[in-house]
Amino acid sequence: MADEKVLIGVIGGSGLYHLDNLTFVKHINPETPWGFPSTPIAICALPSGKKVAFLARHGIGHTIHPSTVPSRANISALKSLGVRAVLAFSAVGSLREEISPGSFILPDQIIDRTKGVRPASFFEGTSIVAHASFGDPFSNKFVNWLESRVKKALDDEGRDVKLFTNKCIVCMEGPQFSTRAESLMYRQWGGDLINMSALPEAKLAREAELSYALVATATDYDAWRPDESSVTAAEVFKTLTQNANTSRHVAATILDEIYEAFAADGGDMLEEVGSMKLSIMPR
Ligand code: ADE
Repeated sequence: MADEKVLIGVIGGSGLYHLDNLTFVKHINPETPWGFPSTPIAICALPSGKKVAFLARHGIGHTIHPSTVPSRANISALKSLGVRAVLAFSAVGSLREEISPGSFILPDQIIDRTKGVRPASFFEGTSIVAHASFGDPFSNKFVNWLESRVKKALDDEGRDVKLFTNKCIVCMEGPQFSTRAESLMYRQWGGDLINMSALPEAKLAREAELSYALVATATDYDAWRPDESSVTAAEVFKTLTQNANTSRHVAATILDEIYEAFAADGGDMLEEVGSMKLSIMPR
């Protein structure tokens, strides 16, 4: 790997198990102090020849439950390749009428309903006491930068896919979907989207000082609409394939430019680098 820079990692969620519109180069499977990643990482070449790393969060055949995704190994493995920024994709339910299934969203806030269940820090079990800043859980510069690029990629695809920004995602513990009462409560809390996978990934990316943005892809209306049936896995599956095709198109369209943006050392986009220096309690 020494001669190959892989500055950008892409994490695929439900339905997005490969980037087969890029040129596959090889698989690598780094063992980390937290074990192996969800799958061997696919190194893929962009048309320009630049290399990116792709990791399927739930495994290639979707065999890994959201609660047991080895997020520490995933983020650590990407970091070990030299990755500076992670573009993550995830299927989400919509808690807002205007965010219809098929919509794409770049959220900027998270409500954590997985706390205490999933290992969420690289420092757990160590004697280092660290409190990472997480008021802005996604990397704002990266997210803002992405908005016009993702919008253009969606417009170019010509399927009339809507893009939303400034939305709040609730990350819940599955495997069951929410009750109607919970779904209504999340709306009252200010939640716009719901999924099972944004965390602890975003927290760990912050601890690893990686820039991290989530492209959420809506599959359903969860359980809050009074006259509609509540979400089923079958409903989620219906939209997954089309959303995954559009995600692949978006990734292939913007990855070269993302790479350039993160390539310059000290560049504007590297806002997370050095952030943990302020997060570790002095002894
Ligand atoms: N992923 C996709 N749709 C979802 C929903 N309604 N709740 C939780 N996770 C989801």
